[in-house]
Amino acid sequence: MAAMSMHSQPVYGLGLLPAADSKANSSGQRQPLQPPPLPQKSFEPFDVTARRLCLRDFESVRTIGTGTFARVQLVRLSHGTITDRSKVYALKILRKTKVIKLRQIDHVCQERQILDDVKGHPFLTDFIASFSDHDFLYILLDYVPGGELFTYLREYRRFNESTARFYAAEIVLILEYLHETQGGIAYRDMKPENLLLDADGHIKLVDFGFAKRLGNDESGHPVKTYTLCGTPEYLAPEVIREGGYTTAVDWWALGILIYEFLTGYTPFWHEDSIEIYKQIVEKTVAFPQEPAISEAAKDIISQLCTDRSRRLGVVSGGAANVKAHRFFAGTDWDAVYRKRYQGPIIPPIRYLGDAQCFSTYPEEDIDEEDCADNMVKNYDHYFEGF
Ligand SMILES: Nc1ncnc2c1ncn2[C@@H]1O[C@H](COP(=O)(O)OP(=O)(O)O)[C@@H](O)[C@H]1O
Ligand SMILES: [Mg+2]
Repeated sequence: MAAMSMHSQPVYGLGLLPAADSKANSSGQRQPLQPPPLPQKSFEPFDVTARRLCLRDFESVRTIGTGTFARVQLVRLSHGTITDRSKVYALKILRKTKVIKLRQIDHVCQERQILDDVKGHPFLTDFIASFSDHDFLYILLDYVPGGELFTYLREYRRFNESTARFYAAEIVLILEYLHETQGGIAYRDMKPENLLLDADGHIKLVDFGFAKRLGNDESGHPVKTYTLCGTPEYLAPEVIREGGYTTAVDWWALGILIYEFLTGYTPFWHEDSIEIYKQIVEKTVAFPQEPAISEAAKDIISQLCTDRSRRLGVVSGGAANVKAHRFFAGTDWDAVYRKRYQGPIIPPIRYLGDAQCFSTYPEEDIDEEDCADNMVKNYDHYFEGF
């Protein structure tokens, strides 16, 4: 199976729909060695968390990511003290008409709310604020400078087992937190494009665009949801069968990810998504001769990528069973949480606000598209909480 050089596209909605746009991922042009000089004039302090923000409060440095629904820009404050203006942030920008047309209103509102609810975990990107104007919704996040794990995996081709274990362990703590501590949040889009590295090489998960709080019913069983969303290669079979699924889908995706870390490709792959779905539903994960994968790794992958009634992380005991698996033998979970293990890849970051770890994207004129006044007027009340 061929390793993919392009990002995999998410799917969303009620049918097995392909995504609308393709994700341009141009060759990584290098940034100048020095950060752009800051204006020397000093202003009053500006606290981003204490006031209603607007786009004029920020200057764009450059686009660092584009997805089907959003554009993410590296930004700095356009006023405040010199210290305020030296800070950088990631600003996720969503066009309201696109959100409405692609039926993503609920997803975007959940994304904003869940980001706010879960902030403060060491391996999640911190939400700072959200705001909106006539045409756009904005989510202001901590900037994670190391770039996507996707880029490193393609560069290294595959990871050795201790590197794969390091990232997998941090993801296990994320899932334990979302599913168990937070009371049933399904993330639903675990993949290397959404896993960023911080300056020390630890994971930061971004993109809560498909996250949903499912919760538990009166007897403590996780509540099911039905929407087909996620990215084809990482979808659990129960999502494809459309008979309802739970947070268990994230443990399946972790199995696919560990396989991908160790081999450089996902176990189920085809150019046509429908063929991927068929493979997921009909086949079991098969391991290659080369590279040789340890028995412990094969076992954890097989136990994660199995029917949800037997799936590790889902069966009684939850995340604790995953942590106790022999693939993680010797792992001090408290040390993982406290980031005491050294990151296996240290991103080449030269200064605060360096964006060289991200691909470059064309800076499209965001005013180009027609604003569809009526559409915004009819639906604007859905965005009131933003
Ligand atoms: N906080 C952040 N810091 C740095 N880069 C980010 C941040 N959030 C997102 N990105 C970059 O932007 C890309 C797209 O953002 P994402 O939230 O995944 O949007 P989409 O919902 O369109 O996929 C990510 O894959 C990542 O490369
Ligand atoms: Mg994304």
